[in-house]
Amino acid sequence: MNSTKTWSGRFNEPVSELVKKYTGSIDFDKRLAQWDIQGSLAHAQMLCQAGVLSGEDLAAIERGMAEILAEIEAGRLQWSLDLEDVHMNIERRLTDKIGDAGKRLHTGRSRNDQVATDIRLWLRDQISIIQTLIQSLQTALLDLAEQHAETVMPGFTHLQVAQPVSFGHHMLAYVEMLGRDYERMADCRRRVNRMPLGAAALAGTTYPVRREVTAELLGFEQICQNSLDAVSDRDFAVEFTAAASLVMIHLSRLSEELILWMSPRFGFIDIADRFCTGSSIMPQKKNPDVPELVRGKSGRVIGHLIGLITLMKSQPLAYNKDNQEDKEPLFDTTDTLIDTLRIYADMMRGVSVKPENMRAAVMQGFATATDLADYLVKKGMPFRDSHEVVARAVRHADEAGVDLSQLPLAVLQGFSGLISEDVYQVLTPEGSLNARNHLGGTAPEQVRFQTARWRRLLADAQAV
Ligand code: ARG
Repeated sequence: MNSTKTWSGRFNEPVSELVKKYTGSIDFDKRLAQWDIQGSLAHAQMLCQAGVLSGEDLAAIERGMAEILAEIEAGRLQWSLDLEDVHMNIERRLTDKIGDAGKRLHTGRSRNDQVATDIRLWLRDQISIIQTLIQSLQTALLDLAEQHAETVMPGFTHLQVAQPVSFGHHMLAYVEMLGRDYERMADCRRRVNRMPLGAAALAGTTYPVRREVTAELLGFEQICQNSLDAVSDRDFAVEFTAAASLVMIHLSRLSEELILWMSPRFGFIDIADRFCTGSSIMPQKKNPDVPELVRGKSGRVIGHLIGLITLMKSQPLAYNKDNQEDKEPLFDTTDTLIDTLRIYADMMRGVSVKPENMRAAVMQGFATATDLADYLVKKGMPFRDSHEVVARAVRHADEAGVDLSQLPLAVLQGFSGLISEDVYQVLTPEGSLNARNHLGGTAPEQVRFQTARWRRLLADAQAV
């Protein structure tokens, strides 16, 4: 019997080198080693409690696995492509160390439920890391929001100056988006955190397994209730990648804004030098590489979402080798997202705001035109009429090259007799902000209310 392969007994010739490389996964799934061992130890403990494995065998397995873990951590374990994947590499190493007890570990288990368990254990940990990082980015944004509750900037629609908003309010919009991203991660984690182990290859096992024991040992919230489904579906991976894509999409929006704002044409912000690079030819350049790359990398995460969802399409039950293709997209998604969130929180702390430029931009776009219309409505004019009156005033100011607030009272009164001296309070950007003092509005008081609310939410989340 050829002893290299675990399943070589029924084959007449060895697998071709090309096929070995094509079907092997050790190059990437060795990354799951720690979680594979965690799953194996719980499985062995359960088998022992169920009377399937002796106490001596369990002790030997625990000792052997501790050594293997140390070897992996020290980078001393030789991974072999002949052994295909992380599961067989570890099992073989265990058997080399402890003999028959190592060969008994796989009782009542298959690589199909083993790998599905590994991936879920691993992903569950990654999601927790991502959740913490989302919160630290929110904290960085809250710091900016708090500092700039009163900083006036133009709010845009169609990328045209629309109405004044506070920069703090703008930052809070992203805090909200990230808050939903956090919820999506938490929600997805509940479905990731279910245990396939016990499903064996597809139909369950003839041994008296006690799945609730293994689940408890591994901290799974639930147990997969159908063995065929347990080994075959990767919907949780699709769901996670969709949630990750949305985080990246949100950050791509902020990135686009940072890039625009840093352009001298806007000059709203500066990003600390350590997050920018220069040009090899143009000495004056300082490029916002980090936000540009975040924008670019969002495409790659969305690509993984499409890859994973397509992987599942039309797969008959139960396990198919196709599912081995779930790993690389998942690994790259978590790596990309974790790196992105980490660097983003740092970078936001390196953003300096230029309030005078923001204010100057507000003054150039007739951003308080709506406020003038509202002013006339409050004095009794129907809104449609006031809209028309203000449009004429804007055209006049535009031709004169000044802002509405710079038109003399007599000129303004030429457009409507309802206008009096108090109009200048609503024509300033500050007056415009303060007037929007309701839940969700841009008034500085509301911005402070929201930052305080979020600080409390984040502190409560940390307390649990
Ligand atoms: N490397 C495989 C995967 O990632 C492990 C499961 C293989 N099972 C099998 N029967 N070939 O999906």
